[in-house]
Amino acid sequence: MRVVRTIADLRALLRPLREEGKRIGFVPTMGFLHEGHGALIRQSAARCDATVVSIFVNPTQFGPNEDLASYPRDLERDQNLCLEAEATVLFLPEVAEIYPTGFQTHIEPGRLAEPLCGRFRPGHFRGVATVVAKLFNMVQPDLAFFGQKDFQQTVVIRRMARDLNLPVDVVVVPTIREADGLALSSRNTYLDEEARRRALSLSEGLMAAKAAFEAGERDAQALLDKARGPLSAVDSVQYLELVDTQNLEPIQGQVDRTAALCVAAYVGTTRLIDNVILALT
Ligand code: PAJ
Repeated sequence: MRVVRTIADLRALLRPLREEGKRIGFVPTMGFLHEGHGALIRQSAARCDATVVSIFVNPTQFGPNEDLASYPRDLERDQNLCLEAEATVLFLPEVAEIYPTGFQTHIEPGRLAEPLCGRFRPGHFRGVATVVAKLFNMVQPDLAFFGQKDFQQTVVIRRMARDLNLPVDVVVVPTIREADGLALSSRNTYLDEEARRRALSLSEGLMAAKAAFEAGERDAQALLDKARGPLSAVDSVQYLELVDTQNLEPIQGQVDRTAALCVAAYVGTTRLIDNVILALT
């Protein structure tokens, strides 16, 4: 595995691979990697000839009161995970490499960035879309891998790739969970034992709703009620919504198209998100 820190070195490394017709996979991350990231890297390694992983804690997607300064970091562990998951290139740019002085051009996502997390994190998806578009231009991957865990992010990125004719296939990988259901997240490191127990209520609620859906329940309100039950354990629920997976609009009445049940909640000062897809077969 090669480690590069500059865009020039990254391009120099990838150019001959591309010229040989090698298929390049890309996994953008913010580091403090876990087996959710591992699943993305492994899937890329299985489907591509070379896999680039980036680790960049992107300042433009954090709000002023969010955890940019304290975002967890452990480069040595990250390197080992990348190596073990068979990444071929690890890209570790500094902030000045990505946002040099004078930077002022952004990607403005449209309506898909407004509901759910967009309502509580203004500017977040603008920052995500901008950095992902920039990274796509640096890596020029054939395939790029994103986790279902950040469902709205996958929808915004897919739309951006389509709208801007970016020559990349966006692949979405299912959420990796702990044995008890908790979705893996770099931010789980903020949870102590008691908070982690309460955090479980997100996945418990979603799984209860999914089980009801699979048993034939189609009433949106009944499904939301199922998911809301366990959430009394958290400190505050930002949103719990059942939305159309295509346009992210709330589904009311009967679920008659594939839906995403999405939740964001605080346990102490830690903000957690999770979701399940309710697919009509
Ligand atoms: P980060 O939170 O590090 O996540 C990197 C990728 O890993 C994302 O595509 C995310 O959805 C995926 N991921 C996280 N937890 C997962 C889990 N439990 N199962 C499966 N996949 C999981 O998302 C970002 O970084 C940033 O917004 C980024 C896209 C890198 C842009 O800065």
